[in-house]
Amino acid sequence: MFELGTIETGDKVAAYRDLLAQARAVMAGERDRIANAANFSALVFHALPDLNWAGFYFYDGVELVVGPFQGKAACVRIALGKGVCGTAAATATTQLVRDVHEFPGHIACDVASASEIVVPMFDAHGHLIGVFDVDSPSVARFDEDDRRGMEALVEAYVAANDVARFEVAA
Ligand code: SME
Repeated sequence: MFELGTIETGDKVAAYRDLLAQARAVMAGERDRIANAANFSALVFHALPDLNWAGFYFYDGVELVVGPFQGKAACVRIALGKGVCGTAAATATTQLVRDVHEFPGHIACDVASASEIVVPMFDAHGHLIGVFDVDSPSVARFDEDDRRGMEALVEAYVAANDVARFEVAA
């Protein structure tokens, strides 16, 4: 079930459309945010080429705390405004970083990471839920197609979950 081959090249927009359908399917009927985050991370990590990390940091009311992910063990806590993840959360803006070594304050959890994209998540009331972080060992791995694709995926993740649980967690 939920088999999806690695998206290699070509039509990235179509590839993200397929991945979005897969993500919705894997989360259908399930509102547990941890279960959905685990499957969502696995789906993205194995579907897209040239990644070394894909996963979630959730806001606990004070800072970001690592959640389900695929890749090497990561930093557990990130303060708002710190690193790429903390910047995405604090500015409410997707961070598309061409070369992490040029990003002031980048937090190097995995030395293999060279570029990354981080999408912040908010609930229906505008409260911060956390961020979805995807890293690559290649410089300039992500472009505007990835930004649009990742933002649509993250929107589907947020929509699939029970907003009340996020409010309790925060
Ligand atoms: N690179 C991130 C830290 C998290 S890890 O890459 C998994 C950052 O600077 O926010």
